Amino acid sequence: MNIVCIGGGPAGLYFALLMKQQDPAHRIRVVERNRPYDTFGWGVVFSDQTLGNLQAADAPSASEILDAFNHWDDIAVNIRGHRIVSSGHGFCGIGRKRLLNILQKRCEALGVELVFETDVTSDEQYADADLIIACDGLNSRLRSKYAATYRPDVDTRRCRFVWLGTHHLFDAFTFAFEETPWGWFQAHAYRFDDTTSTFIVETPEEVWCAAGLDTMEKDEAIAFCEKLFARYLGGHKLMSNASHLRGSAQWIRFPRVVCERWVHDNGRAPVVLMGDAAHTAHFSIGSGTKLAVEDAIELARAIGRTPGDLRGALAAYEATRAIEVLRIQNAARNSTEWFEHVDRYVNLPPEQFAYSLLTRSQRISHENLRLRDRAYVETYEDWIANRAGVARAPAQAPVPPMFTPFTARDVTLKNRVVVSPMAQYSCIDGMPADYHLVHLGSRAMGGAGMVVAEMTCPSPDARITPACPGLWNVAQRDGWKRIVDFVHEHTDAKIAMQLGHAGAKGSTRVPWEGEDLPLPADNWPLISASPLQYLDGVSDWSRAMTRDDMDRVLDDFVRATRWSAEAGFDWLELHCAHGYLLSSFISPLTNLRTDEYGGSLGNRLRYPLEVFAAMRVAWPSGLPMSVRISAHDWVEGGITADDAVEIARAFKAAGADVIDCSSGQVSKKQKPVYGRMYQTPFSDRIRNEADVPTIAVGAISEADHVNSIIAAGRADLCAIARPHLANPAWTLTEAAKIGYLDLAWPKQYRAAKMQLERNLERERAAAAQSAGLSPLEQANRAMGV
Ligand SMILES: Cc1cc2nc3c(=O)[nH]c(=O)nc-3n(C[C@H](O)[C@H](O)[C@H](O)COP(=O)(O)OP(=O)(O)OC[C@H]3O[C@@H](n4cnc5c(N)ncnc54)[C@H](O)[C@@H]3O)c2cc1C
Ligand SMILES: Cc1cc2nc3c(=O)[nH]c(=O)nc-3n(C[C@H](O)[C@H](O)[C@H](O)COP(=O)(O)O)c2cc1C
Repeated sequence: MNIVCIGGGPAGLYFALLMKQQDPAHRIRVVERNRPYDTFGWGVVFSDQTLGNLQAADAPSASEILDAFNHWDDIAVNIRGHRIVSSGHGFCGIGRKRLLNILQKRCEALGVELVFETDVTSDEQYADADLIIACDGLNSRLRSKYAATYRPDVDTRRCRFVWLGTHHLFDAFTFAFEETPWGWFQAHAYRFDDTTSTFIVETPEEVWCAAGLDTMEKDEAIAFCEKLFARYLGGHKLMSNASHLRGSAQWIRFPRVVCERWVHDNGRAPVVLMGDAAHTAHFSIGSGTKLAVEDAIELARAIGRTPGDLRGALAAYEATRAIEVLRIQNAARNSTEWFEHVDRYVNLPPEQFAYSLLTRSQRISHENLRLRDRAYVETYEDWIANRAGVARAPAQAPVPPMFTPFTARDVTLKNRVVVSPMAQYSCIDGMPADYHLVHLGSRAMGGAGMVVAEMTCPSPDARITPACPGLWNVAQRDGWKRIVDFVHEHTDAKIAMQLGHAGAKGSTRVPWEGEDLPLPADNWPLISASPLQYLDGVSDWSRAMTRDDMDRVLDDFVRATRWSAEAGFDWLELHCAHGYLLSSFISPLTNLRTDEYGGSLGNRLRYPLEVFAAMRVAWPSGLPMSVRISAHDWVEGGITADDAVEIARAFKAAGADVIDCSSGQVSKKQKPVYGRMYQTPFSDRIRNEADVPTIAVGAISEADHVNSIIAAGRADLCAIARPHLANPAWTLTEAAKIGYLDLAWPKQYRAAKMQLERNLERERAAAAQSAGLSPLEQANRAMGV
């Protein structure tokens, strides 16, 4: 085969040497516009796992790379005069020049033709090629030329950064955060050879402009950075090697590149994207070079696997790599956003700030950190527990963050797990009876700090279905009291009431008879902020509420609030999410009013706030109230995460103690991006920007998730829904799974505790043995690290 790689970066060189090694008969050229030893950049980082991949792909170059690596385990986070160090992270740094030289030498030894100082203007210059690799980097000319096929999406991010070097030798991967009158700057620094470290300085675009860096010459900008970060540089200078770039041009805004397709046919040969030309992942997760060489490994492997079927190999390459890249890009997006919004986190205590940074990508979890550095995690767990007022006895294990108490007003939950409200559609005439006694009672016995009753309706026409529970008469109040009394008498869990009105989503069948479909008969009239048909052409139309309707519904909510207090509930939640009545006022998708209840967000919040304020007055002052919101509509033109922060601020000002951060279900046009803990970023933003306690919910399914979220300060409580349907004792089970043995079980169930713990311990040991992996390797594999 005649192969031409356009671009002599890690992707092109590594692919060339792998193909030549696979079959010396191939003619392979790597065409590079720069001179052989002329490259821009300092050091790059690999994880230990990438090294293993290199070793398996080409042992000679891997051993040279290994010899040139500077290995380190520590990450140091510096903020406000604190330095917090954690270990066990396993990174390697190598100079980009050194890496390229090793690959160039290996290419030459194998007979790859290296052509330097040739700026390729078109792939058509290589009409004799059977395969052209477009590995011409971030600003790929070939990607632009064939954009109609590749369909690239380039998202230019918020921060400016500059890639500098220094002779100060950092003994840990160092993050440093410094405040200026214009905002926060951060440095990412790591040593990559015997004399040099990379030193990246980064700040949001607006801070960069306000500091005047947009108009500074290069030397002046470097002097600015040297002064700002002087305390970390040990008297050394910062150096730029981007001599070809002038002034502010060396400060880049990171472009996140995603391509829909990676293969184009130019009529003579396939032109295949590889490395940065195909995708980018923010430098804060150090994966750019890793992805480039792993692309090369995969394509060489695919071609070797199906000799004679190049098209098939290319299709397999694209399919395999696109998935892996997406996984890394998801983690990179979380990491990028964290660094773009450092100002959101700087007011966390330094200990928590560091933990939040370490777990920012949501790929490194609490248990994964424990495997890296047990002492760090245990010290941190003690710190979290102390802040929650728990001091452990010397012989006791540290208390995981999930099992620390949480207090709002006069109510203390024994831990951070909440059974999320879940409609059961199992009432007659709105009456909570035996079904709810068993359903909520058993979950209250399962170890959670609090169970939340499903959405309960303050009037018959507020129901979603005829089988929803109500609180519009004293019989229902007494039905609830029986359940609350059981929970209080037999468990140490708290119990919350969730009050809500279905609005335009009411008068439907129970889900198992047709979710969201209108009742076949006896429908009741629907009301909402504006006339609405939830399912186009299917649902009944609602009508816009009049002021009289608003007064009536407000009175209903207040009466139900009083009865909730009389029933003995510990906590009250107002349902303002998921497209129901109050949510229909908040979202611009469902509120088209032109009066003072429509238009601006302030106007749209007016009625939900009126209802909340009236309930707050009726609800005992010592008991907390939360508000569940849809923090994102997942529809263009709907509520965004920015709006959600404002919504949270407004409810906080009205007396809400906690914001319960759900999302979506407002419009059928929604396109949510699901994934584990996918709504937690909304909680993180609201908690840390609006400065109000939050509940995170959505695809939180393991103790490890809860611990990571609570420890990082992304939420104060975690609501778990579906896992609690599968297992009422989810919390007790999860404690056993993470080996936390100090949790009290209901006295009647104690016989099961030790047996469960022993069986789980055996399962863990057997799994580890059969996989032949260390615990850290297993955890890394599970998390895709
Ligand atoms: C600040 C910063 C920090 C980074 N830190 C890390 C890190 O810690 N770890 C990590 O793994 N990665 C890191 N990277 C990313 C890493 O440098 C790239 O992801 C990686 O080099 C991609 O390899 P590549 O071969 O695809 O592209 P490149 O390395 O960009 O190579 C492309 C090559 O093509 C050549 N070229 C372009 N156009 C033409 C043309 N028309 N004709 C001929 N030649 C052409 C270029 O000169 C270049 O040599 C960092 C990047 C930046 C900007
Ligand atoms: C069967 C079922 C019923 C639900 N009913 C309610 C409800 O009454 N009120 C509410 O706010 N959310 C309700 N939800 C949403 C859940 O509380 C939760 O936000 C969602 O299921 C995501 O959490 P999970 O991933 O842990 O399941 C319901 C979810 C399910 C699965």
